[in-house]
Amino acid sequence: MQQIRPTLTKEDIICAETPAGPNAFVVFGASGDLTHRKLLASIFQLFAHNLLDEKFYLLGCGRKKFTDDQFRVTAQDSIRQKSQFLSAKALKTFTDKLYYIDGDYADDNLYQRIKTRLAELDKKHNVFESLVYYLAVPPFLYSTIVEHLSSTGLACPKKLGSKEHIKLVVEKPFGRDLKTAAHLNNTISHCFDESQIYRIDHYLGKETVQNILMFRFANAIFEPVWNRNYIDHVQITIAETVGVEHRAGYYDKAGALRDIFQNHMLQMLALVAMEPPISFDADHIRNERVKLLRSIRPFNIKTLDDCCVRGQYGPGSINGKNLIDYLEEKGIDKNSKTETFVAAKLFIDNWRWQGVPFYLRTGKRLAAKDTEIAITFKQVPFSMFASVAIDELPPNILVLQIQPEEGISLSFQAKRPGSKICMTSLNMDFNYKNIFLVEMPEAYQRLLLDCMLGDQTLFARYDGVETSWQLLTPLLHAWEKDKSPPFKYPAGSQSLPQADKLIEKDNRKWRKLAQH
Ligand code: BG6
Repeated sequence: MQQIRPTLTKEDIICAETPAGPNAFVVFGASGDLTHRKLLASIFQLFAHNLLDEKFYLLGCGRKKFTDDQFRVTAQDSIRQKSQFLSAKALKTFTDKLYYIDGDYADDNLYQRIKTRLAELDKKHNVFESLVYYLAVPPFLYSTIVEHLSSTGLACPKKLGSKEHIKLVVEKPFGRDLKTAAHLNNTISHCFDESQIYRIDHYLGKETVQNILMFRFANAIFEPVWNRNYIDHVQITIAETVGVEHRAGYYDKAGALRDIFQNHMLQMLALVAMEPPISFDADHIRNERVKLLRSIRPFNIKTLDDCCVRGQYGPGSINGKNLIDYLEEKGIDKNSKTETFVAAKLFIDNWRWQGVPFYLRTGKRLAAKDTEIAITFKQVPFSMFASVAIDELPPNILVLQIQPEEGISLSFQAKRPGSKICMTSLNMDFNYKNIFLVEMPEAYQRLLLDCMLGDQTLFARYDGVETSWQLLTPLLHAWEKDKSPPFKYPAGSQSLPQADKLIEKDNRKWRKLAQH
């Protein structure tokens, strides 16, 4: 089928962004993976698009020993790997704003040195207005760092006076379960107000995830059918081909439920199923997201196998490349029972969704990278075409393709030219890149800018985090007690037989993972 043709002018496409004001960034974990894979390139993009103020600087803090110049060289390498066609001059101008300090996060002395360094750099760059602390470190270090920021007075430097000028960015997962999340929140809220805390879930920064609300609430035709009367079921998939990579230390203690399900998956579910907020204001949107999460029916621990399946990848191959067992990966405990795959069936107990199953699945080392939300509508109530049985009329499916081929498609039945009753399924497609003619921006770019601008819409609020742990903690505890290991699946699988059973017993099927 032919694509929707772009009819947009350049002005329609380019939406003016508000640039950030003067800001200093302190990144804890500056020699680590997240800083080099995502943060530096995203901040550089903001700089390249004139969205960073002239008076910006970044002080990286890490355990590795680097001089400022050495840090700048590593930063340039990381940015070059992520950004094509960049000007060497721009890169140099940007990295001249980067500084580095090394030390032990548990040592008071480090924070005293940070204080002295910030005072010098503030003077040099003339930044006295705003300070962002970014915790890009493993979650077990969050409390240590926050407590030190507080005890050394860095959580509220006198010069900044008002608290709203200091922000704390915390990566997910926020806690390991309900109890640890509450403990962490307690520690943080001794030093920072909720209005200063930016809990990052980078899925909320993806253009396609943000578009869910526009799609639903800026068009009149979808909302009337967005409910139990017209929708048969919803499938949400986050499938990855990558394995644990070099993050064994973190991942083996987390697993797919904490790493993806508690945050990215539930946020997407909330956006697709929540009620319309009264306005596009951070708290109104977050109120509705939390309300939706609160209405998810708790798991019945006695019949867990009926609604939840966990798996762990074994040896296999993807695109002809042989891949090893999860248990053989470097840094993974040989007896690990950590899940790399989760499938679950959820119900939402409210008027809109009563009785509509939501099937969610996420896994590493699956056959394809594919993140999508598929809404399957009910079948027509009756087939008026004598030669076509009702089962032969496939339902309409609306797919919000989150990545990698960002787009939206709607399947429908159409008459094929020829015999009087000859039908076929077609797709009406919209593809972001073809229409908007731009590469999709990195989610962190949006989130970092919003944080500097003080907009919390795309960040998780604690009541939402707490609600998601209330739902998942009983499940985590049940799995901990269970002596049996997760089901094994070969790397490169579409799914697991046990996960197939979970949906097939309802006479439905998982959608095939799309090869993009
Ligand atoms: C991260 C998880 O939050 O999201 C990773 O920790 C996962 O394990 C990643 O690979 C997936 O993000 P994306 O944007 O590639 O879908």
